[in-house]
Amino acid sequence: MNTFEQYESEVRSYCRSFPVVFSKAKGASLFTEDGREYIDFLAGAGTLNYGHNHPELKQALLDYIESDGLTHGLDMHSSAKESLINTLQDVILKPRGLKNYVIQFTGPTGTNSVEAALKLARKKTGRETVIAFTNGFHGVSGAALSCTGNQHHRGGAGTSLHNVVRMPYAGYFGEQADTLAMMDKMLNDPSSGIDQPAAVILEVIQGEGGLNSASAEWLRKLRKLCDKHGMLMIIDDIQAGCGRSGDFFSFEFAGIKPDIITLSKSLSGFGLPLAVTVFRKDLDIWKPGEHNGTFRGNNHAFVTASKTLRAFWQDDQFSSEIKEKGQMVRQRMRKICDRFGPASLKVKGRCMMSGIECPDGELADAVVEESFKRGLVIETCGNQDQVVKCFAPLTISHEKLSKGLDILEQAFAAASSKATQAAAS
Ligand SMILES: Cc1ncc(COP(=O)(O)O)c(C=O)c1O
Repeated sequence: MNTFEQYESEVRSYCRSFPVVFSKAKGASLFTEDGREYIDFLAGAGTLNYGHNHPELKQALLDYIESDGLTHGLDMHSSAKESLINTLQDVILKPRGLKNYVIQFTGPTGTNSVEAALKLARKKTGRETVIAFTNGFHGVSGAALSCTGNQHHRGGAGTSLHNVVRMPYAGYFGEQADTLAMMDKMLNDPSSGIDQPAAVILEVIQGEGGLNSASAEWLRKLRKLCDKHGMLMIIDDIQAGCGRSGDFFSFEFAGIKPDIITLSKSLSGFGLPLAVTVFRKDLDIWKPGEHNGTFRGNNHAFVTASKTLRAFWQDDQFSSEIKEKGQMVRQRMRKICDRFGPASLKVKGRCMMSGIECPDGELADAVVEESFKRGLVIETCGNQDQVVKCFAPLTISHEKLSKGLDILEQAFAAASSKATQAAAS
């Protein structure tokens, strides 16, 4: 039995698909203790959009540490935090028409940001109910877990999960069904059994739930519905944000403004824990310290986050590169689908948040296993773990992206042929 099996809790998960010990990482590659290289199409589940140990970010952090800059600062003012707030405002929020939004630093993980968003929406509206969507994933702490759809995670709560009404996400009943018309009707009906909600919370592309994505039209309609029924719109951009969809925020393409935005994962740019909840200033009814958390002042993450925003988001160049790579990924995925299952495989998601849906989780698992054997780290998502999810770092070179996609294609070939043999025997 190795150290992990002997002493680490059974709750460990990703490591079960990749049973090696990694000791180094650079760009889009992971290296094991014995020097084997793996291309990383998992990217810390969306935390490493700029790859591992990006040299500019690393240098900024090293310089900061060398200068004895604060590491931990609770929520005290620090130069690193001041610089991040100004950079977020100037580089991200103001150019996107979100200049009257304020930034709340929450505990350092995504679920902390979601908790703050939900608490604030309930406090502001005086309503308890929140609408969340089928296949949504919002974290595994109390209120966030209530909004998460996945039964495996919900089952871990050990207590009842309250005050959330589940609605069908865009396309849940196929292209033709108008899920928002249904929602509107239920909200209008005083006898539908739904209390007036404080908020709706959603992902624009469902990262864990199977890369289901909402259209611009659906999002605009939902925005109107929120206004009509006095519900706040919370967009959980923890996974789809920070450039994954091609724009900094995943909702930009729809031209909508959410009331509250959650951000984490790739916000620090370097894999350091950092989360914020961003909302319109008029919603800021918190009393000092009313919602807190010791680790809201990860100054190392503030340093790398500011550097990331300045290095990648001052103009449109990076966004264009992501969109171009996204097209390449989706083109290659369509080719894989055509070759190994035109009727059974399907490209899901958007841009660099794309994947291939298999008819079942078994095939998707086999693809992950075959990929790993050939030097590619890639994972699945979806309600049956049936979607092979390609999450390459956005900074990956064309060559490495192409090499990773070649491996993915070989893995589909191997897994499909094994599945055919098994069916025949
Ligand atoms: C959309 C979304 N929201 C919230 C979370 C929770 O973030 P964390 O795992 O950092 O608590 C995740 C994590 O995958 C996520 O994808």
